[in-house]
Amino acid sequence: MRELKILAVVVVFTLITYYLVEPFAHGQMHKHTEFNNFNYNGKSDIEEVEHKIAVAKAANEPTEELEKKLEEKKQFWADVEKIAQLQGDVAAGEGTYAMCQGCHFEGATNMGGVTPPSLEHAGSLYDKKYLIALVKNPAMAMNVDHKFKDPAMHPMGAIMGMVTSDQDIANVVAYLKAKKAGEVTSKEAFVEACGRCHADRYMKWTQVGFRPAAKEDIKTGKDINMLKFEQKVAEEQKAVAEYMGKLPPDLSIIIRARSEHFLKTFVEDPQSQLGGTAMPRTGLSKEGYEKVEEFLADSGDAKRHERAELGPKVLIYLLIFAIFAYLWKKEVWRDLH
Ligand code: HEC
Ligand code: HEC
Repeated sequence: MRELKILAVVVVFTLITYYLVEPFAHGQMHKHTEFNNFNYNGKSDIEEVEHKIAVAKAANEPTEELEKKLEEKKQFWADVEKIAQLQGDVAAGEGTYAMCQGCHFEGATNMGGVTPPSLEHAGSLYDKKYLIALVKNPAMAMNVDHKFKDPAMHPMGAIMGMVTSDQDIANVVAYLKAKKAGEVTSKEAFVEACGRCHADRYMKWTQVGFRPAAKEDIKTGKDINMLKFEQKVAEEQKAVAEYMGKLPPDLSIIIRARSEHFLKTFVEDPQSQLGGTAMPRTGLSKEGYEKVEEFLADSGDAKRHERAELGPKVLIYLLIFAIFAYLWKKEVWRDLH
């Protein structure tokens, strides 16, 4: 029975390390940021300005502009909350949606630095309150209003002059939630929510689409189509980099480089994780985030599904092997005891 005791001790220490020591060390090494559970109510945006005001006061700097900003943000998110209470009319929303399609359509090209994404799954990918905020004022919703003197200058800013009444906003969001909320694959989720800015080399995704297989082009002798494609990618990347101030990083191995918690909080609220970051908020719903995360996990670790399947089989094998080893040991030592 000594063996069992040793085994028990090993198991206990392993569990302690896994569940207590490791998370503790992790918590010490990574700054903890609060996650707002995909609830877009402007809480962190308001806190961010309050923090700036406190810093400015401590440095005896004027806070007038910041105080104005604070009031503006509080008012904006209170309005969003109010619109969220309205009953949206799906049929009327369809008419308003036609205006969105002026920019968002299959084959759209770069405008103001980015290519408007497909909205085919916008109802599932994005949170309702975020969508309301986005239609009301895209720069505020994405928390990039500090970059635009006039929010109408945001690449999607023109919508502010097109959809002006609260009821129209409620209607178009109700339309998206009812008619653009079908089943979404992890690939579609990534392409629509992140793909206009980020490449993913391992998945062959570029800002302008999936990289064509080189084979098709070899027969022309000069890979001319490939060169054209590369040129398109380079031009798009240049435009995105100019708009964002830097080229957004390739996300092939981001989940392994950072944690899931980081990714979740970063996507919900980039500024809280990386103050001053150029990345806008993306406003994903829980479902939308999970799909994006799945895509990125597959990208960084293509064999993970195979491995998960193999794991239990290996464990069963080890267990059977251990039983035999134990019986054999008893047999060998029997005469000596
Ligand atoms: C409008 C452009 C844009 C969109 C859309 C966008 N990002 Fe980003 N992202 C950026 C930029 C710019 C940076 C670089 C930020 C910096 O370094 O300040 C960035 C950085 C990141 C980082 C790296 C943070 C770090 O330094 O470790 C992650 C992770 C990330 N984005 C994830 C996502 C995900 C996931 C999506 C889709 C849900 C997404 N992004 C959508 C522009 C974008
Ligand atoms: C003037 C052109 C234009 C119009 C009109 C327009 N959009 Fe956009 N939209 C854009 C651009 C450009 C982006 C990308 C902005 C960015 O990444 O900074 C965008 C981004 C989005 C996103 C992604 C937001 C995110 O967080 O990733 C959604 C959702 C969206 N638009 C919905 C709509 C809806 C709904 C309407 C109609 C009510 C609409 N748009 C009208 C240009 C437009």
